[in-house]
Amino acid sequence: MSLSEYIDYPRWPQLAEESLRIDVRLPEKVKVGEKELTYSKKFRGIVISGMGGSGIAGDIVRDTLQDMIDIPIIVNKDLHLPSYVNDDYLVVAISYSGNTAETIRCYESCIEKGIPVITISTGGKLRELAERNGTPHITIPKATAPRYGLPCLLYSCLRAVGKALSIEDKVLSLAENSINYMRKALDDYPTRFKALADKLANKFTMIYTPSPIASLGVRFKNDMNENAKQPVAVCIIPESEHNDLAIHIREIENLEILVVDAPSIRNTEHGVHVTALMKVLEELGRRFHKIELEGDSRLSEIVYGVTGLGMLTIDIARIVGVDPVKIEAIDRVKKYVTSRS
Ligand code: PA5
Repeated sequence: MSLSEYIDYPRWPQLAEESLRIDVRLPEKVKVGEKELTYSKKFRGIVISGMGGSGIAGDIVRDTLQDMIDIPIIVNKDLHLPSYVNDDYLVVAISYSGNTAETIRCYESCIEKGIPVITISTGGKLRELAERNGTPHITIPKATAPRYGLPCLLYSCLRAVGKALSIEDKVLSLAENSINYMRKALDDYPTRFKALADKLANKFTMIYTPSPIASLGVRFKNDMNENAKQPVAVCIIPESEHNDLAIHIREIENLEILVVDAPSIRNTEHGVHVTALMKVLEELGRRFHKIELEGDSRLSEIVYGVTGLGMLTIDIARIVGVDPVKIEAIDRVKKYVTSRS
């Protein structure tokens, strides 16, 4: 398959750069009805609220920034915000379409409770509400479907969170650098990833991912589910060493195992766990494929991995004979929910 057949992947670096350039003006305060939303304060935490291909941007932002800041980044993939979230938090409501019921509901509860909120979408109801209420909104470029627009969702979200936390320069430089690794993954794809397509097609895959880059495992699962229509279990190291590892004393049919390794993990405590896991799999006679990431930061590594593994799921979709873009079952459930709410 030529690069142009990988849907939006060949233009990911361009989408990433474009989205990183979108600035957002954060007002001091916005008055909506009786409520005053204050954006100029030291927040107690950041909540990134979104579903599926949009929510995953929140996971990646959390993995990227959590160890650089002294407040929690909470990723909310639900209808409601956690009850402890109040006006001391900043919420980023992110939805590619702007029409996802759960994300709109979270935006509305921010307005009801006076919680400062930034929205990110290509348009839709979320943008309409933000314009009506005067809350900050970022309009991102379009792609073929939400998951293929990951660079738009991720880089705009990173920039917005960087700005809200006054670490914009640091975030910009990390983000710019990571785009080089997105390019590298596009170049490396034929030699580093593609050969796995035949091996994973029509199989159940378990992906073992160290916790600091857990978002990569989640994104791979989502891409496999939506693009290739295949099941995946995400096993986060070290937690997986306390449960799912136990199954490997049995030979399980049609199971493939991936283990993710990354430069930022090697020579750390997490690295010890990854090595221990691989050693035990070997001792038990279980074959696994090692995914060696490249990158000079956690963000670069994740971006390298989501690009290469994402393209892989497109190849798998073609091998198993499904349309990677169509997600009929998801569309049906959205229609059902919308008609009843
Ligand atoms: O990738 C997809 O198409 C889905 O996972 C969507 O992202 C998900 O259904 C949420 O929709 P949206 O991203 O428009 O909020």
